[in-house]
Amino acid sequence: MSHQIIAIDGPAGSGKSTVARQVARELGWSFLDTGAMYRAVTCEALSRGLDVHDEQVLGRLASEVTLTTLPRVTVNGRDVEDEIRNDRVNEAVSVVAANPLVRRAMVARQREWAAQQPVGTVVEGRDITTVVFPDATLKIFLTASPMERSRRRGDESAASVSRRDEADLTRDASPLRQSDDALVLDTTGRTVDEVAGEIIECLSARQSN
Ligand code: DC
Repeated sequence: MSHQIIAIDGPAGSGKSTVARQVARELGWSFLDTGAMYRAVTCEALSRGLDVHDEQVLGRLASEVTLTTLPRVTVNGRDVEDEIRNDRVNEAVSVVAANPLVRRAMVARQREWAAQQPVGTVVEGRDITTVVFPDATLKIFLTASPMERSRRRGDESAASVSRRDEADLTRDASPLRQSDDALVLDTTGRTVDEVAGEIIECLSARQSN
């Protein structure tokens, strides 16, 4: 079987990470949370006291650091699994993710990583179906109602989530877009098992065509 990719995009709180993880587990494929990569670079920039608005400096940092997302999120060997979800990172990450030099470095790493996986991969983010893997085996766009999305973000305030959504949708570099050939799934009121099951059924249907 050739290498296969399920690409999943959607806004914060749409259920991307949880659903993508579950699909990967059920298929025995690997999983990549690309938001964690942007967050890890942001953490490193903040801990070095860098100006996150400096495109060149952040671009250089993004291509130089060593990153892992599993089993733990690390940057240059430092475990940042908890730190990547703190308020400072929530506030600064959309600036870092809007930087075209950072994006170029992240996209290259994501493609390189996927090519090394033995069977298939589930990759989730904001530009995965449109930019990183436009030819993915299956492309999914997850949505959920604003109330449900805000509930799922738990500790993060609704204002902070909507600032990040707005920044992701309106930036010049690879904004969040629904690709024409993506399957759109509304996860409002549905369990992770239901949504993951629908994605796997869809993959089987693709594979048997
Ligand atoms: O999915 P998340 O909330 O962890 O993403 C963190 C930030 O990174 C958010 O502002 C969107 C951005 N991001 C992106 O621009 N492209 C991706 N592929 C993944 C995340």
